[in-house]
Amino acid sequence: MRDWPYEVFPTGWYQIGYSAELQPGEVRPVRYFDRELVLFRTEAGRLALLDAYCPHLGAHLGYGGTVVDDCIECPFHGWRWRTDGSLGTIPYDPEANRRVRIESWPTREVAGLLLTWYDAFGREPFWEWPGITEFLDEENFYPIFPQGADHIGIRKIIPQSPVENTPDFEHFPFVHGAGRAGNPITWEEKEHYLRTRISFLFGAHKAKTWLTPDGPVEGEIETEAWGLGLSNARFTLGDFVTSQLTATTPVDAEHSELFDTITASREPGDSGPEPTGKAGKMITFQKGQIRHDFKIWENQRYVEHPPFAGREAEAYASFRRWSKQFYFGPDGESAPGAGGGQQAG
Ligand code: FES
Ligand SMILES: [Fe+2]
Repeated sequence: MRDWPYEVFPTGWYQIGYSAELQPGEVRPVRYFDRELVLFRTEAGRLALLDAYCPHLGAHLGYGGTVVDDCIECPFHGWRWRTDGSLGTIPYDPEANRRVRIESWPTREVAGLLLTWYDAFGREPFWEWPGITEFLDEENFYPIFPQGADHIGIRKIIPQSPVENTPDFEHFPFVHGAGRAGNPITWEEKEHYLRTRISFLFGAHKAKTWLTPDGPVEGEIETEAWGLGLSNARFTLGDFVTSQLTATTPVDAEHSELFDTITASREPGDSGPEPTGKAGKMITFQKGQIRHDFKIWENQRYVEHPPFAGREAEAYASFRRWSKQFYFGPDGESAPGAGGGQQAG
């Protein structure tokens, strides 16, 4: 983003795919955080993310590498690497003990999502992502996979932008066609976690809409953010709940891969796998809504000291203060040798 002041990618957990899309034995080349990486799952089901290049002669393990037992075998000369990046075996010199290893990245699988951890200061994960309650509750909500798993792909968007919607009560009418702005109720910060609630009049100024057939309904939007990589919006209208997780994973300093994962309350009596009725409509509608934000995020420049008006001033100031923690080290320092968004170490 033009005028963006920080040189490192923010610290935190980031989505790198869906559990259901990486089967045992699968190998995939991926690129995040300005690094070439290889993602794979062992036959026993273990997930691994390693730097892509084989230390021997530099082959990219993501192109032709294969899973053999609990290792990935290099396509060039068959050296085998374990999920922690250590050397398994060299097929033509089994006695050799080379002190080489590949950098391995922390991974997790939570609520159907594959995650990795990034920290420019080299710290191990110091929080865990709890997941989204609705994604795990298939009795009351539709499964997220496949209909609720939206691969948005790579966009010119940085992780800060989607989460900066949190303090932005005034953009709803302009960007999302809402009849009214939202009204803040709660603002709670706890270290890497931020939760807010706003009240929202769904279907404002309209006699009826598909979502509000009996006229406007006072509902609520609850947002939760865990760092800047993962943020959820929970829309509640009476007993109808929709949960939408936006995941923004940096690819390079300007681009991220976005995943949008969404589910909604089951239609009464429907236990099938596919969202139907109001839930199906809401999921389609919300997939469209997030895309309305893109044209703003992809083209805006960063304004460090905005001339605020009205209620946004306080909320934005709080948000900017909270979000700063993800760009600095434990003692408030910038990353050693920060520049171009490279990970230290
Ligand atoms: S480059 Fe990987 S085994 Fe030779
Ligand atoms: Fe928005």
